[in-house]
Amino acid sequence: MTNAAFTPRVFSGIQPSGGLTLGNYLGALKRFVDMQEVGKYECVYCLVDLHAITVWQDPADLRANTRELAAFFIASGIDPERSILFNQSQVPAHSQLAWIFNTVARMGWMGRMTQWKDKAGKNSENASLGLFAYPALMAADILLYHATHVPVGDDQKQHLELTRDVAAKFNHDYGVDFFPITEPVIEGPATRVMSLRDGTKKMSKSDPSDMSRINMSDDADTIAQKFRKARTDPEPLPGTYEELKDRPSARNLVDIFAALSERSHADVVAEVEGMQWGTFKPLLADLAVEKLSPISSEMTRLMADTGEIDRILGKGAERASEIAEPILKKTYEIVGLVQSS
Ligand code: TYM
Repeated sequence: MTNAAFTPRVFSGIQPSGGLTLGNYLGALKRFVDMQEVGKYECVYCLVDLHAITVWQDPADLRANTRELAAFFIASGIDPERSILFNQSQVPAHSQLAWIFNTVARMGWMGRMTQWKDKAGKNSENASLGLFAYPALMAADILLYHATHVPVGDDQKQHLELTRDVAAKFNHDYGVDFFPITEPVIEGPATRVMSLRDGTKKMSKSDPSDMSRINMSDDADTIAQKFRKARTDPEPLPGTYEELKDRPSARNLVDIFAALSERSHADVVAEVEGMQWGTFKPLLADLAVEKLSPISSEMTRLMADTGEIDRILGKGAERASEIAEPILKKTYEIVGLVQSS
């Protein structure tokens, strides 16, 4: 069976572990909205709280961050009527399928994950078992919906390859064509937004320097100041994007500009050719403020009504379960855990 036999369905997720950045917006959320707007996919978007707790989360913070993340989705343009928006823990089938995938995935596969190596570091003896098994839960998230397309930032590529391996091994071991071989969708001008202090490092909420990132909660002055102080190099902007190949900090600012203005790299570079950074950075800061400020004020407005957010997530979990339950049931039958009906 090829993927053409499956309903075109998008699945993606973000962890409610606080500290949403411009990387999350450009690499993920903005593209989730684009896929919703294409209109040809059923879109399922998940706040992956079970993934978040693979590292310690204070319970009160987790609750607050979950609502904040839901507000971020909606303020960015996800329509909870057209797309399904819910939190992972409220659909138990995620954990149930993840257990089955824990028996399909191999220790060696997990041990090779760079995210595991980065997060567990030298202290892997002390890391949670959940952190090690994290990619099997991620495979379950995706395959529970027979998702055909998964938009993510570049850092999730290896996890999506593992998801394909899990699907292929399950299909092979049980002699079925049940799970699709999902397509990663790693596209757009900013699939890897880099630190504003060091263009060779990913923009991340865990970087000790707040100047390295734009937080979705930053106000206009802070955004402008961070772009003004962003690392660049002494050369002016070149005439082709290729010339930025060995200038990571400079390229990062062009990538961000292109993604925010919804234009290609080539278009942007043609327009700003020869410009000095002192001229370009204020343009970038103005553009970022214009695009991000309405999102953060809408988030503040939405978060004032937590009851409404909880209602939306509750409804989303019901709709997600309607898709997930029959797929889990069929998986149990294939594995031999229940009789085929
Ligand atoms: P998370 O929560 O770390 O990040 C959420 C999304 O944001 C993207 N992203 C970036 N994109 C570009 N540049 C950056 N600097 C940047 N930082 C973050 C990530 O690539 C991601 O798309 N494992 C996932 C969550 C997950 C998931 C899933 C995703 C769980 N189950 C199923 C897809 C499908 C994660 O930790 O994302």
